[in-house]
Amino acid sequence: MSSTPADRSPSRSIFRRRPIEPASEDGPLERSIGLWQLTAIGLGAIIGAGIFALTGEVANEFAGPAVSVSFLLAGAASACAALSYAEFGGLIPQSGSAYTYGYAVLGEAVGWFIGWDLLLEYTAIVAVVAIGVSQYVSYLLTAIGLDLPAWMLGAPGSGDGHRVDLFAVLLCLGVAWLLNRGIRNSVRVETWLVLVKIVIVLVVVVAGAFYVSSDNLTPYFPYGFGGAATGAATVFFAVFGYDAMSTAAEESKEAERNLPKAIILSLVIAMVLYLLATTVLTGMQKYTDISPDAAFSEAFEAVGRPELAKVIAVGAIVGIVTVLFSFTLGASRVGYAISRDGLLPAWFAKTNKHHSPSRTVWLVGVVSAAIAGFVSIGTAAELTNIGILLAFVVVCAAVIVLRYRSPDLPRTFRVPFMPVVPLLGIGFSLWLTSKLMWETWLRFGIWFALGIVVYAVYGYRHSKVGRGESVGNAEAEVE
Ligand code: ALA
Repeated sequence: MSSTPADRSPSRSIFRRRPIEPASEDGPLERSIGLWQLTAIGLGAIIGAGIFALTGEVANEFAGPAVSVSFLLAGAASACAALSYAEFGGLIPQSGSAYTYGYAVLGEAVGWFIGWDLLLEYTAIVAVVAIGVSQYVSYLLTAIGLDLPAWMLGAPGSGDGHRVDLFAVLLCLGVAWLLNRGIRNSVRVETWLVLVKIVIVLVVVVAGAFYVSSDNLTPYFPYGFGGAATGAATVFFAVFGYDAMSTAAEESKEAERNLPKAIILSLVIAMVLYLLATTVLTGMQKYTDISPDAAFSEAFEAVGRPELAKVIAVGAIVGIVTVLFSFTLGASRVGYAISRDGLLPAWFAKTNKHHSPSRTVWLVGVVSAAIAGFVSIGTAAELTNIGILLAFVVVCAAVIVLRYRSPDLPRTFRVPFMPVVPLLGIGFSLWLTSKLMWETWLRFGIWFALGIVVYAVYGYRHSKVGRGESVGNAEAEVE
């Protein structure tokens, strides 16, 4: 069994472990999120730029109608990791997600590595998604005749006269502001936006079904099964997000029961919607005609329904905004958890009167705004996926280790077919990392080296676990 508060003693090892303790009811964060709201945060993070912006490109260039198979493959791989997250969510329902699980099972160095990695990754995802939304907003405003000055339409170098992507900057800062008004208000807004997003996908499915022609679905595998598998690596972006939701553990009611359910529910709902929407899209248009950009809107234009095309474009914007919310929440809660454990200064863990770790939230908002305003979408995107994949590897490995090390811990959910499912999760995640560009590895290496310096200079010495101090969540200070 892991240590209890009574038997803590100082440790100098970099593999010292955070104790596994039950969720505390009296922490500084507010426990106000129920099962369906938690599921909405999960859906908010999962369904977004992936389905709305990547499906067309994958259908057109790699998979043809078998883009649905690409989603199924990516979803199956993600499900292996999701089950591992669900087991941990029920066992260690604390802020920090993969950081906290890695720290509790594989030791501080591994926890720090994954937490540091997720800080950058989640912040970069916020920036990428904000730029994506901003492109849609500019498109729509221009379409209704508003002539916007070029300087505010994109990062320097992304187009003639571009100086800053002003919409993207405002989106990042606006989401940070909303989150700092308190989780209760933010989740209410998020839940409504997620409902709008689901309705839009259902509109695509129901209205699009009338235009499906079986001719468009043959041949089903024009690029062979290999094309569908390659497409899976790209659409992987669409099938994660529940990991960001699990960082809200300390803001959930009955987290031990609700977190595992919400993780699995959100992925299952997203997968059903994805499979329906991709089948309808590829049935509406020949894969060679599907637009690589705004695929769903353009498909409705092509079948003579321009009014639906516009509704879907607006829905896509609303839908993608929810991803911003979930990942800003994720990054700030990982930062909060690291700081509360003493690996970063306590300054970052202070909460405001709305029970939000406002300094970390603003930091994530400002850094993501800076990236979104001044870096091209391609460069920012290169910072993503690697961190999630490595977090998946760590969480799947940790679930196996803990099952054998401490088989009797009170688990509210258990990964089935142990250890096959987490091993598949590890294998698939490692295979996907092999598809990343070398620039992604280089940037990651630089960030990792910086992380080693911060840990050596600050974290190692101030770690509460290292000093034998309590790491319960009640101790974090409130502003
Ligand atoms: N899964 C999220 C999306 O597709 C990151 O936007």
